[in-house]
Amino acid sequence: MNIHTYEKLWLIAAMLLIVGFIATITYGSVGLGIAMVGDQQETVEPTQLGEDDRFAEPRVEHVGENQYEAYVIAQTFRFQPDPIEVPANSEVTFHVTSRDVIHSFSVAGTNINTMVIPGEVAEMTVEFDDPEEYGIVCNEYCGPDHHNMEGQLHVVPEDEFDLTELSVDASDEIGPDEEAAFEISVENRMLEDRDTAVSLEIGEEMQTEEVTIGGEETHVTTFTVDGATLGEGDHSWTVSADGHEESGSITVTDGESDEDGADDGESDEDGTDDGGESDE
Ligand code: CUA
Repeated sequence: MNIHTYEKLWLIAAMLLIVGFIATITYGSVGLGIAMVGDQQETVEPTQLGEDDRFAEPRVEHVGENQYEAYVIAQTFRFQPDPIEVPANSEVTFHVTSRDVIHSFSVAGTNINTMVIPGEVAEMTVEFDDPEEYGIVCNEYCGPDHHNMEGQLHVVPEDEFDLTELSVDASDEIGPDEEAAFEISVENRMLEDRDTAVSLEIGEEMQTEEVTIGGEETHVTTFTVDGATLGEGDHSWTVSADGHEESGSITVTDGESDEDGADDGESDEDGTDDGGESDE
């Protein structure tokens, strides 16, 4: 049987097109790593996220050298944590779930895009090379404020990144003969040790301690300040450690006029006219 040359050419072209289509579809569905939200993972109870180890506290965790896990909750109409902060040059696995209805977790300008279904945990691993600030949007209609549902993903320079948490326990009020104690806890949630300085600034006074905090450890520093050194009145203080700051104020009383201390023997020794000594 004789097949005309042009007919042969068209047949070959049509075959190539079909092979090309199949290759494109295969690459699109397998090669790019696009997957449906799996149903093999452990499910979560959307109304009980507060009791779930992974989601009780939405956060970023350091799990290996340059490896992080981010636990993210989407809910009407926000993402938590916000912003999500990760360092450049890292590999981050996102675990995203919803507290209420179906949302999406889509990082603008990247191919990070997943549906977020209540009860399911969407997982995706992403590498971040350079510092950059991205917006996160929800692109599944989830309610009247869907268009305002947004978050931030900050990829910060490696040397500016930490997982340090600072908390200060200090009294609000002391007498002039008492000492004010500042109990400063600095938690290092990174795996490596961290060298930093903890400092307290109050009035003219500045106290500093150089500390090394082990990986996943909390260091407690206690500074004390004499009520007498500070003098009567209100004093504001600032505690800083590793680029984090917390501030508050403390009142040093005159030691005599307890608000309810009319029955205090010593309070009437030198008069109840506490305004008197500061007058001209
Ligand atoms: Cu959440 Cu739209």
